[in-house]
Amino acid sequence: NSYSIAVIPGDGIGPDVMDGALEVLAATEDIFSLSIKYHHYKAGAKHYLATGELWNHDLAQQLRTHDAVLFGAMGDPSVEPGILERGFILAMRQAFEQAVNLRPVKLYPGVATPIAGLTPERCDLVIVRENTEGAYVGQGSTIHANTPNTVAIQESVNTRQGIERVVEYSFKLAMNRRKKLTLCHKKNILIEAGKLWQDVVNSVATRYPEVNVDYVHVDAMCFHLPVAPEKFDVVVTDNLFGDIITDLGAVIQGGLGVAASGNLNLDGSAPSMFEAIHGSAPDIAGKGWANPVGAILSAAMMLAHLGEKAAAQAIEAAAVNVLKDLPALAGPGMGMSTTEIAAVVSSQIRTDF
Ligand code: NAI
Ligand code: MG
Repeated sequence: NSYSIAVIPGDGIGPDVMDGALEVLAATEDIFSLSIKYHHYKAGAKHYLATGELWNHDLAQQLRTHDAVLFGAMGDPSVEPGILERGFILAMRQAFEQAVNLRPVKLYPGVATPIAGLTPERCDLVIVRENTEGAYVGQGSTIHANTPNTVAIQESVNTRQGIERVVEYSFKLAMNRRKKLTLCHKKNILIEAGKLWQDVVNSVATRYPEVNVDYVHVDAMCFHLPVAPEKFDVVVTDNLFGDIITDLGAVIQGGLGVAASGNLNLDGSAPSMFEAIHGSAPDIAGKGWANPVGAILSAAMMLAHLGEKAAAQAIEAAAVNVLKDLPALAGPGMGMSTTEIAAVVSSQIRTDF
């Protein structure tokens, strides 16, 4: 099958890990007879500083012509925080209605986790983060700015339709997994939003009687997730809580360098976007220390999303095999450079499949 993929390497280690993912995809293409055409797009700090361009209509029109978007990372110390993150990444998620941010939390066999005694059997869940609303809508105001009486108001917007689409997706996902769904929120304090989330879960649940549904407050989740991840299968949560608990999930599964994600458009109105969950890591950019496995596994998620399950599984298997030999976080002691890891994963795909 043939596909057209938009590639946005971005900033910092984004281009490094993207190169790794593309090399692995090339190996997969040969073995599984896929034909993938890539179109590279300039975006990120350098492009912004040179042109002033962030997310814009022309770019959106071009990206819409592709089957999916593969994204590196964005953010740079030379650009004021938020400009690229809000002005590009969030803008894309919202414009392309990438309603679901799907983040598997899976401890692969042999991978180093900081949680003592944790085994892969106990850690295999999926976090479904609402990706377009909540506190990330960018609405708010500051009153009496720069005075002793300053008040900053940051709004969180939750719509029934926005919640419904991720909750519906989560139940469907749960039906294909262990039929267990957990709503994670803070409904004892965030009364308005929490009630709407719980109402929607309750009403969608009536159509999925086989799914076992429960509820956990987000603060308690930070305790349960590292200690007893086996309690969870599909966790559905809002944008902010999801952002936070998925980083925790990444730590449990072996570090930011191994965690993958998909930003899914559910109605086919625009492409979905796939990215490692880490950022641009300016502290290690250009050093060759970045672990490309998160980006490689995100490319596998992209192939699975496009219907290429066998190719996706091949990448996952090869990447996991390499992870066994790596410490959880990057550094001079990682033992293998970014390019070496990508090369080993690629050659394993070529020899094993
Ligand atoms: P970060 O994820 O870039 O880095 C956090 C820590 O993890 C750093 O010590 C980094 O060296 C390490 N790390 C990250 N990815 C790694 C990898 N693949 N291999 C080994 N170590 C890795 O988060 P940080 O430092 O908070 O943000 C840096 C920039 O990235 C900021 O501008 C931030 O806004 C942006 N960002 C962008 C995201 C995106 O593009 N979707 C997501 C998160 C942050
Ligand atoms: Mg985050």
